[in-house]
Amino acid sequence: MDQEGFVQVAQLAELPAGARKHVIVDEQPVLVLNVDGELYAIDDVCTHDDGPLGDGPLCGYEIECPRHGARFDIRTGAVTRMPAVEPIRVHEVRVHDGKVYVRLRED
Ligand code: FES
Repeated sequence: MDQEGFVQVAQLAELPAGARKHVIVDEQPVLVLNVDGELYAIDDVCTHDDGPLGDGPLCGYEIECPRHGARFDIRTGAVTRMPAVEPIRVHEVRVHDGKVYVRLRED
């Protein structure tokens, strides 16, 4: 199902609750996470100073940038703690036939 811009990034079995995976979609680093059984895909780049978010701790639905501690809501991309001020992008995730697909949001 590589259609409508969705790109396969993982097998669903790779992403049980609590798991995360770094992937590249159209040359963009993306982090796919399973939080309480729901899959989310966010830019793996902090808007503060381009640090990678992927290894940052998760507090509920907030991921914390390991570099300077900015936080973002993985459901909306909104900044929840400085020093970042710009939101991150949240991408579309689909599951089909045991595979996980991501489509990048353009804005
Ligand atoms: S690079 Fe993420 S908080 Fe500075």
